[in-house]
Amino acid sequence: MRTILMGPPGAGKGTQAAVLVDRFHIPHISTGDMFRAAMKAGTPLGLKAKEYMEAGALVPDDVTIGIVAERLSQEDCANGFLLDGFPRTVAQADALGKILAKLGIRLDGVLNLRVDEEKLLARLTGRRVCRKCGATYHTLFNPPAQAGVCNECGGELYQRADDTLETAKNRLAVYNAQTEPLIQYYRNLGLLKEVEGDQEIDMVLQNILVALGQAV
Ligand code: AP5
Ligand code: ZN
Repeated sequence: MRTILMGPPGAGKGTQAAVLVDRFHIPHISTGDMFRAAMKAGTPLGLKAKEYMEAGALVPDDVTIGIVAERLSQEDCANGFLLDGFPRTVAQADALGKILAKLGIRLDGVLNLRVDEEKLLARLTGRRVCRKCGATYHTLFNPPAQAGVCNECGGELYQRADDTLETAKNRLAVYNAQTEPLIQYYRNLGLLKEVEGDQEIDMVLQNILVALGQAV
């Protein structure tokens, strides 16, 4: 499977990606996760990404395209991959087309998770993430068995710095201005598969599998 998972901030990309990559044994390529890991490690990439991410703005295209090009050329991507949070601008989508053409790879689809804006804000501001394993929860919609503790590994749950109401609103505005046009971009290429994201997490997964022609 060579697929892009698109959708606004909080649409459920990370939640669904975690299940899909496990099921299909493919790498999860999340630019957001890559930037957060670089920030945690204090690398030059992390230092560069930090100011943009904390403001809810996009990291510049040249930086982002560079890390994805390098990641896609690695051996474990030969049999498939799931891109999450990339591309996010028309320039990134054009660059991805060129990278894949060079590698002789064709995408089999672009999934777009649709969720209304007011629901997105509630999802973002209530999200909690495991410091140790990265598992994602929500204080109301997907709570852990014990408040503040990860079900998977017992790690501590925290709130992302960009999940405050003000920054979340900015991220949604940036999405509408810069990323939403990619829906039409991929529709024009005949690759777009729309998925209703405002349903129970398991139902969204089922609909993704149907859209991918993988339902059992
Ligand atoms: P990134 O980490 O990619 O964040 P995002 O796209 O804003 O998406 P999120 O991680 O916020 O949401 P999600 O769709 O994964 O939702 P989740 O599954 O967690 O990017 C962060 C930043 O990095 C950007 O702002 C930018 O600065 C930079 N960046 C990254 N990529 C870039 C690029 N290509 N170019 C430039 N800059 C880039 O779910 C959200 C919450 O809802 C959770 O609490 C979850 O439990 C809950 N939930 C999930 N599904 C459901 C459901 N069906 N019903 C109810 N609740 C649900
Ligand atoms: Zn954990």
